[in-house]
Amino acid sequence: MQSFVFVILAIFGSLITSSYCHITPPNQSLVPSKLLLSRDTNGLQENVTWDKYSMSVNGKRLYVYSGEFHPWRLPVIDLWLDILHKLKALGYNAVSVYVHWGLVEAEQGVFNFNGIFNWEPFFDAIKKVGLYVIVRPGPYINAELSAGGFPGWRQHAPEGIYWRVSNEAYYKQITPYINEISRRLAPHQITNGGPIILLQLENELSVAAAPGYDWPANQYMEYLRETFIDAGINVPLIHNDVAHNGYYATSGVIDIYTYDTYPITCSNWNGALSQGDWDKHLSFAPGHPHFLGENGGGFYAQWTDANNNCPSFMDPFVFRLMYKNQYSMSVTAMNIYMIYGGTNWGHLSFHRTPTTYDFVTAISEDRSITREKYSEMKLQAHLFAVSPAFLTTRLLVKSTNSYTSNTEVVVSCTKDEIGNKTAFWTVRHSSPLSPNTSQFNLTIPTSKGEITIPQLSGTLTLPGKDSRIYLTDYKLGPYNMLYSSAELFTWQKIDDTYVAVLYGSPGEIHETAFTFPGKAPNITLLEGNALLDKQISNDTAILNYNSTGQSVVSIGPDIKLYLLDKFEAYKFWVSALSCGGEGNVIVKGPYLVRDACIIDSTLHVSGDTNATAPIEVIASSKISSIKWNDKEISTTRSATGSLIGLITFASPEIDIPVLSELEWKSIDSLPEVTSGYDDSKWVDASNTTTVNGVRNLTTPTDLYSGTYGFHTGYILYRGHFTATGNETEFYIQMLGGWGFGYSVWLNDIFIGSNIGSASSHGGQSTFTFSQLAAGTENVVTIIYQQMGYNENESGGITNPRGIWNYNFGSATPAVTWKIQGNHGGENYADKARGPYNEGGTYAERKGFHQPGVDTTSWPTLSPFKGTETAGVQFYTTEFELKLPPGYDIPLSFNLTASADSRVLFFVNGYQFGRYIGNFGPQHLFPVPEGILNYQGENTVSVVIWAQGEAGAHISEFSIVKTGVYQTGLGKIRSSLQPRYLERGAF
Ligand SMILES: *[C@@H]1O[C@H](CO)[C@@H](O)[C@H](O)[C@H]1NC(C)=O
Ligand SMILES: *[C@@H]1O[C@H](CO)[C@@H](O)[C@H](O)[C@H]1NC(C)=O
Repeated sequence: MQSFVFVILAIFGSLITSSYCHITPPNQSLVPSKLLLSRDTNGLQENVTWDKYSMSVNGKRLYVYSGEFHPWRLPVIDLWLDILHKLKALGYNAVSVYVHWGLVEAEQGVFNFNGIFNWEPFFDAIKKVGLYVIVRPGPYINAELSAGGFPGWRQHAPEGIYWRVSNEAYYKQITPYINEISRRLAPHQITNGGPIILLQLENELSVAAAPGYDWPANQYMEYLRETFIDAGINVPLIHNDVAHNGYYATSGVIDIYTYDTYPITCSNWNGALSQGDWDKHLSFAPGHPHFLGENGGGFYAQWTDANNNCPSFMDPFVFRLMYKNQYSMSVTAMNIYMIYGGTNWGHLSFHRTPTTYDFVTAISEDRSITREKYSEMKLQAHLFAVSPAFLTTRLLVKSTNSYTSNTEVVVSCTKDEIGNKTAFWTVRHSSPLSPNTSQFNLTIPTSKGEITIPQLSGTLTLPGKDSRIYLTDYKLGPYNMLYSSAELFTWQKIDDTYVAVLYGSPGEIHETAFTFPGKAPNITLLEGNALLDKQISNDTAILNYNSTGQSVVSIGPDIKLYLLDKFEAYKFWVSALSCGGEGNVIVKGPYLVRDACIIDSTLHVSGDTNATAPIEVIASSKISSIKWNDKEISTTRSATGSLIGLITFASPEIDIPVLSELEWKSIDSLPEVTSGYDDSKWVDASNTTTVNGVRNLTTPTDLYSGTYGFHTGYILYRGHFTATGNETEFYIQMLGGWGFGYSVWLNDIFIGSNIGSASSHGGQSTFTFSQLAAGTENVVTIIYQQMGYNENESGGITNPRGIWNYNFGSATPAVTWKIQGNHGGENYADKARGPYNEGGTYAERKGFHQPGVDTTSWPTLSPFKGTETAGVQFYTTEFELKLPPGYDIPLSFNLTASADSRVLFFVNGYQFGRYIGNFGPQHLFPVPEGILNYQGENTVSVVIWAQGEAGAHISEFSIVKTGVYQTGLGKIRSSLQPRYLERGAF
């Protein structure tokens, strides 16, 4: 890493000591005595710079507040804008994205960046919304994806098995991709006028390397660095250390060190509320901003989550405690993983996760923002959007009870070291998850000396499982807020007034004080009845109030304070004036505000609403009217000067077909077990050696399905043999990943299944049958579900999928194996829906899951009736939707099927549901508009694999709406839905 100093302010050359927090700043000696306002760069550009405090973009410090979103987990281009609006409305300024190598180079050397895999429309949407982008192109990305995003052909890459290490053979595999993706991303870098400010190399590269390769993998990382830079990347490079271990922090292969933190999972709360990460930060990366490359925003569901308790681990309190503790450690850049999770449609996911990638995030899988955590996260992010003083802070006092009157309450002090005034006091219980409500006073230093808050009356309150950020000497434009116990959501300059929005929980006493250069002006109550007491003494104005409902006070002509309870604060939005007017407006009321601009004296607001509700607009007095989604609403001016009106919600008529009442056409989708089935065009599984290398073959030929280019869904084998006459049993051992299963036929006789377990990779079975006659020709047919590959297999492929072993007891017939998976294998048939969409059942191979199949000759059979034998049955139906335009109506498929069944369903050819009767755990499968045609024809197809003799059917399959919003989003164009075309004989 090169670095140079381009701003020199020698006066700050010596270390600053703080007097206010009454403690010597910790470990200052570890901080290099670099000039404090110098900025580091990567030597390639100066648009993105950094120092030990924070990053800057074009010379301006910035809290990089980012949310992770994978456009390819929402395969409808027009909906990307929706997620980006909702992310921006949180107060975030950046979005982080993974590029999925396996999606775009599924066939080696052939890139598919078309349609939903094209990144250009994503950057178009980014431009509309105004966000920075952190790109994470891998090549390895993990992300709960099959093989962590590596293409399937890794399974048979001939030149060596050691990936993610300094292996020349591996470099040969990744370099074309790196060149291709860099060529596509480079024009979107900030250095070329685009939004990309950072690029991440690799991902959580913290797994032990293969023997003989360097560790940590500095040579490999250096190769990535050089290759990306040679290919035109010049923004700073980062890497996300999987835990806070310091990997690559000082090796020179990255520019800014970041690390990942997931203190919570769906079954565990690991606490992680110590401030030990601050010391680690100072020792690992003292010259870098404290940057969380991934900060848990939820967690993913697994097949094992039958009694999914994830939501309870994801309550807003978790994020109050965790994130506020992280801010206290001067974290000035963080990326919330995920902010919108989306869907593992097709077979994107690794073996442990079902279709949903909801992740219990702020924005739900159906794109709704009704979870309370969305509102909580919005309150937090907005504070940092308006607090430049935070960008030069240090954690000066770790959690201590020495400032509080109640020993159960601890506080830490994070102070602006450059301005030497503003401090952020993070308060929580000494036992963070304590359910108790504590009353206390806080005695803390301010520019007016030590003050005990509240001064006028009452005590402060800290509810159980809560955390607060109190401010001292905080700048509101030219004004000094001496302290506030109520938390700050935002402040904005509107005309000549400084409007601040402060909140607490309902019923709490709070106190806020301002100091002025001369005599303090009067405090006037404009609205509400929160004010309990006030005091003007010389230069200080103090308000003591109850944070219930909404009240508004002014202090002199220029300061206006909204005093709210948190639930009122949830209704506030801050919107940048994007297409006319300058600065921001504050809008209270609607479900979502997407955008605002001023044209003449009219404020145009676009957004969504799900109920008739008041709207209040705090904007320039020059604005005299409001249009909501282009419709004028009548307004009055309130006593506080804001405009007040009503947004009406018109409940539409919504007609959704009942799937059980439709006509379903059906065919057998396992003709392979009927006698005379011709598999001569199948792939020969005849390799007598394997490139796997980790595991020695225990079968005469390599029977790993990945060897032959089949990586997704249901995969079939046929083993032909001439009986010796001793065959009475068949033993098989397979590995398919968690939740997998298989069924086996001898000729046309079903001999058994392995139902699998939600947490077993593999399984073995011995199936018996009546003794075969010597010299007879037989075939054993096996279908198994490939659940997705493992992640993190850097030291070779230790868990190949498919048949690991088989025998016929003591009989030893010679078996000739054939294999079949998705049509075309890596040269997959459906370039529009991508390489992960299809599996290998007969109907899928034929393409019958797509619209436009002529089913007139097919029998009528409903999946609700199903079958009464083991096997695989395919069902398809059609219906029309005529949903009202102008509404966003998220729809989900609610699915339950019989035990011992495995179900896939397709909507207009896109596979949007993988269900396993014995595990669930998912029943509600959101399918976005654009996959469903809201104004037009739809085809829904279901593949039901009955693993037991009793057959299988669907007991519940319905389309349910999970919300109705009148929306300003605009028309959603459907994704490409290629229709059925004859695929030829095979
Ligand atoms: C910071 O402010 C305190 C209190 O006003 C003062 O004593 C101290 O000297 C200041 N430090 C610097 C480096 O200006
Ligand atoms: C990047 O920095 C250069 C040099 O300071 C500046 O001219 C250019 O406008 C910046 N680019 C963007 C997109 O801000």
